[in-house]
Amino acid sequence: MSLPRHIAIIMDGNGRWAKKRLLPRAAGHRAGLKRMISLTEHVFERGIGYCTLFALSAENLARPQEELSAIYELFRAYFTGQIPVLREKGIALRVIGDLSLLPADVAALIEENTKKTEGGTRGNLTVAIGYGGRQDILSACNRAVREGREVTAETFGSMLSTGGMPELDLLIRTGKEKRISNFLLYEAAYAELYFSEKLFPDFTARDLDRAIGEYEQRERRYGKV
Ligand code: IPE
Ligand code: IPE
Ligand code: MG
Repeated sequence: MSLPRHIAIIMDGNGRWAKKRLLPRAAGHRAGLKRMISLTEHVFERGIGYCTLFALSAENLARPQEELSAIYELFRAYFTGQIPVLREKGIALRVIGDLSLLPADVAALIEENTKKTEGGTRGNLTVAIGYGGRQDILSACNRAVREGREVTAETFGSMLSTGGMPELDLLIRTGKEKRISNFLLYEAAYAELYFSEKLFPDFTARDLDRAIGEYEQRERRYGKV
């Protein structure tokens, strides 16, 4: 089978990575961010067009303020420092999720700076922040109801925050758990699932290649024989 066009990663295991090293959870998130940067570079070098990363769920916002503050600080750094890098590489950066759940300055920075990468044609990087799959589906439903229109698989898909992206081919979760945790619920209908035992900061480009290699071996039948 050919290379996936759209891959997504549930970047899980930062906290446990830090705990193993007797470090604060924030150190795990810092290591995770470093890993996220190197992996996305690898994804687009391999010619995969769409990469969607789960960075913070809507449910994660109930975590202790200390941890959230550390994560927001990393967002400030990422959405400042990586913008020129992504622009240079021709990668369009988007964020999906409910930014109103974030501190106003972080939300504003994200909105303003992602715009600077618009028009990138070499790849599409989407970071899910304050995101929930159910919430995304419900808000699309409510919009359809408000507009008084019936939806079809095509029109509904385009109303989700991932609207316009090609179908999700490969969904990877690092960090041992085997669940979707409210990520791309609708989009994952026929995605191939890949679970890695590695904690996200330890998940290397080689591990990603292994996941892609396994994807290429799988037979996707979509219910047919
Ligand atoms: C994933 O790592 C990143 C976020 C959810 C922000 P975790 O923070 O969930 O790490 P573990 O699962 O506790 O190890
Ligand atoms: C999923 O990880 C969310 C992200 C990786 C951003 P969680 O750590 O929040 O998921 P659960 O709590 O193990 O289901
Ligand atoms: Mg976790």
